[in-house]
Parts: sequence; structure tokens; C-alpha cells
Amino acid sequence: MSSSYELLQRCYNSVREKIDFKPQIALVLGSGLGDYAEGIQIQATLDYHEIEGFPVSTVMGHKGRFIFGYVKGVPVVIMQGRVHYYEGYSMEQVVLPIRLMGQMGAKVLFLTNASGGINWDFQAGDFMLITGQIASFVPSPLIGPNIEELGVRFPDMSEIYRKDLQNIIRDTAKRLGILLKEGTYIQFTGPAYESPEEIRMARALGADAVGMSTACEAVAANHMGMKICGISCVTNLACGITDQPLTHAEVKETADRVAPLFKQLVTESIVMIDQEMKRG
Ligand code: HPA
Repeated sequence: MSSSYELLQRCYNSVREKIDFKPQIALVLGSGLGDYAEGIQIQATLDYHEIEGFPVSTVMGHKGRFIFGYVKGVPVVIMQGRVHYYEGYSMEQVVLPIRLMGQMGAKVLFLTNASGGINWDFQAGDFMLITGQIASFVPSPLIGPNIEELGVRFPDMSEIYRKDLQNIIRDTAKRLGILLKEGTYIQFTGPAYESPEEIRMARALGADAVGMSTACEAVAANHMGMKICGISCVTNLACGITDQPLTHAEVKETADRVAPLFKQLVTESIVMIDQEMKRG
């Protein structure tokens, strides 16, 4: 057994000693959805620092927690406060909460984030269904001895964002009258926003939106066989598209402005995904 798996098991056992809740869907909250959990029926919460073995060397333990509860009757575990590579965590630490949620029994991983729009057709405030990703600019969370208990050494990545889940989210957005763009998400390490040259490069590579999270989480989740879907909130146009400098305040402002719609889209998508899983 690898030491990574041992750590994961230690964390898992620690969670299970405190909470016996079996989620169907794991939801990661990005900017703008931070207070999503306020609108759901909460059963329990667990701060990361309460989990034995959880790497909480710096600030992680204070900002992150799992929320267990029901979204319109669907059992979910919500990750409030994700950890980013730019904060100094290893990629293995970054994806640990994702792996834990998979171990708790979540079959589906629903990823959300804030991003900069690269595609010329995008506007600040748009939602983008993530249909694919470019993770090659950040280290893989799978580097190191393979955790055989989770997945294979060389996992297939041909359909990270499941087509069936994409269809459900598309249909849901249409039904709600919410405009949903779609495209490829590219992850860079951050924390600096990109230069105009980097955005030109990303566009040439086929990316539609850029951010500092998500793709690594999707790689780890796909490795362990979770079904993944994701929606990105395009909070700003990426660097170089306008001549405005980028600020975190702008990102936050847009995310907060469209949060009510984002929440609605996520909630209704979760309900439809759960129904489909029950059928399938
Ligand atoms: N770049 C990287 N990450 C982001 C951006 C961006 O423009 N907007 C929100 N997160």
C-alpha cells in the first residue's frame, strides 16, 4: 500500500468516525458559489482541520470544509473552499479532498470555478459548460507511485467531462432560459493572471477559458472512475482582450452578480443528474 493511499485511508476513517453520510454527488464550489450551501438542507459540516491526517500546514484548515446535505432531496457532499496549487500545496494535497469525496461514495463530481474568457464570443458573466480541458501546464496529481486502489497507472482521459452529463446540463440551462456557452478550460498555475502572450498561446491551443484550478481535480477524479461535469463562470475577459488591467475585485464582482443564476443552474442540474443516475 502506498503512503499516499495510507494517508487517504486515515483521512477517510477520520471522516467516517464523525459522519456517516453517503453522498451521490460531490460538488466543488468556485468563486461566486461560496455561499451556495446556505440554500441547502445541511446535515453536517466538517472542517478540513478536524480530519486526522489532512494536510493543514498553513491556511488550508481554516478556510476549507465539507458540507453534507441535500439539494432538493439529492444527497451531496460539498467542498467549500478548494485548495490551489499556487498556495504552495503539492498537487497530491490539492486533490486529496476530491479523492476523499470519491471514497465517501460520490459517483459524480460536479466542478465549478471562475475563469477568464479567451473565446472572442464570451462576455463577462457568461457561463461555460466545460466540454474538455488542457492540464498540461500544471503538474499531474498522478505523478508518483500509482495508487492502485484508486485506478490504473496510465488512465484514459478521452472523455473526462461525460457527454451524458453535458447533455443534462445543456438541457437544464435551456429549460431555465439560461444562456450556456461551452468550451475547453485550460489550467495555469497562477497566482499571477496571464500575460496577453500567454492568452494568445492558450487560444491557439484551443482553450476557451482560463483558470487556476479544476483540471487537476478532474484528472484525479477521472483516475478513480468518478463521472465528471463542470461549469465555469466567466468572470472577466482574459488578459489582452480588453486594455483593462485584471483585478481580483472584478472577478469577485462578476461572480457575485451572476451567483443567483449560477446557483439555480447548478441546483437544477444536480436534480436532473440524480434522476438520470437512478434511471441508468
Ligand atoms: N485568469 C486566470 N484565472 C482566473 C481568471 C483569469 O482571467 N478569471 C478568474 N479566474
